[in-house]
Amino acid sequence: MKNTVVVGMFFGDCGKGRIVDYLAQSYKVCVRFNGGNNAGHTILTNEKKVVSHYIPCGILHPNNMAILGNGMVIDPIALVEEIKSLESLEINVKDRLFISNRAHIVLDKHKEEDTHQLGKSIGTTGKGIGPAYQDKMARSGWTMGRAIKESSKSLNTPIEFLRPYVIDTVSLIHSFIDKGYNFLFEGAQGILLDIDHGTYPFVTSSNTLPSALYTGTGFPGNLPVSSVGVVKAYTTKVGAGPFPTRMELKDEDKQRLIGQEYGATTGRPRDCGWLDLPALKYAINIGGIEQLAITKLDCLLFNPIKVCVGYNLAGDFIDYFPINRLEEASPVYIAMPGFDDEIKKFQETVNYNQIPNRIRAYLDLIETFTNTEIAYVSTGPERNQMIKR
Ligand code: IMO
Ligand code: MG
Repeated sequence: MKNTVVVGMFFGDCGKGRIVDYLAQSYKVCVRFNGGNNAGHTILTNEKKVVSHYIPCGILHPNNMAILGNGMVIDPIALVEEIKSLESLEINVKDRLFISNRAHIVLDKHKEEDTHQLGKSIGTTGKGIGPAYQDKMARSGWTMGRAIKESSKSLNTPIEFLRPYVIDTVSLIHSFIDKGYNFLFEGAQGILLDIDHGTYPFVTSSNTLPSALYTGTGFPGNLPVSSVGVVKAYTTKVGAGPFPTRMELKDEDKQRLIGQEYGATTGRPRDCGWLDLPALKYAINIGGIEQLAITKLDCLLFNPIKVCVGYNLAGDFIDYFPINRLEEASPVYIAMPGFDDEIKKFQETVNYNQIPNRIRAYLDLIETFTNTEIAYVSTGPERNQMIKR
């Protein structure tokens, strides 16, 4: 039985949903373990465009079960909306969606607080994530279980709507393990947004590393889970905080347009930057990432393409990501040949070894620098445009 976790490597929005959707075909259970509707995944299935914020992308496969783990924070109103919107796309969630009774609730006051000063200075999504985790840690939060116990059955509230889905997901997960089911864990955000290991304080309020799946779901820590890190061919970021490889304005505007880089959650324009290999290596190390998935190469249309391979720090060249001294460091780039003219052929490629030369050189550079295997490459936005090595 192979269990897998999929996480984002930088600041999120890298196409995790795509990769989870692709992998979910071979898994029985798909589980979210952190965050809330600060996450936003956009999936193009053959006929539909689905945007999900809570429910793991495995739900798009009829035989998959979806679990919202105890590590999440959930705004009942928004989750009800999401369930209804999936149902309107004829994606049935009855009997396959399970919400942890230990997940915490995002209350209206959390959302209000999140739009005030601190939220603004960090550039949060304003979804109440930080304040809800704050109450959880202060031990004054509301769990789903408590809200259900205390809500009046006669009221037609979002809590009542969610009641049939709320259960002890930890026991459920353990019963699925006994049945031999395999698990796919869907991370939210990205490793540089991790509360402990990211670019603090410009981070989200939960752990985004693969290891967070254990505390965030109750999956036993002695069971191995292999990890896939998702990397966009260039980098994007929303919200405040350091972004050393951010492009110059003209290039950024072009990249945003080609990549359609607008937040799935807030609609905010994303800042765009070049690929930062030392940061990637940092995220791989801290996350224990075993394989990479590369997305959106077909949207990287510059010649040459800049790639950050190190930093200048106080006059010295360093080849690692100086996470504690980013304000003093400036990126050092190499130029890779552009591959605009290879994209058409690339989009029809199904075999890794037939990837056109200059695109392959870009991938080889990532592998060599990080010493990590690239196992998946998406060749376009459609569901089936994916190369498995
Ligand atoms: P997915 O799963 C990109 C960012 C916000 C802000 C910081 C803190 O779609 O990749 P928060 O609302 O979490 O307190 O905001 O984290 N952020 C994301 N950026 N993708 C996400 O999720 C994000 N979730 C949070 O922009 O900078
Ligand atoms: Mg997103």
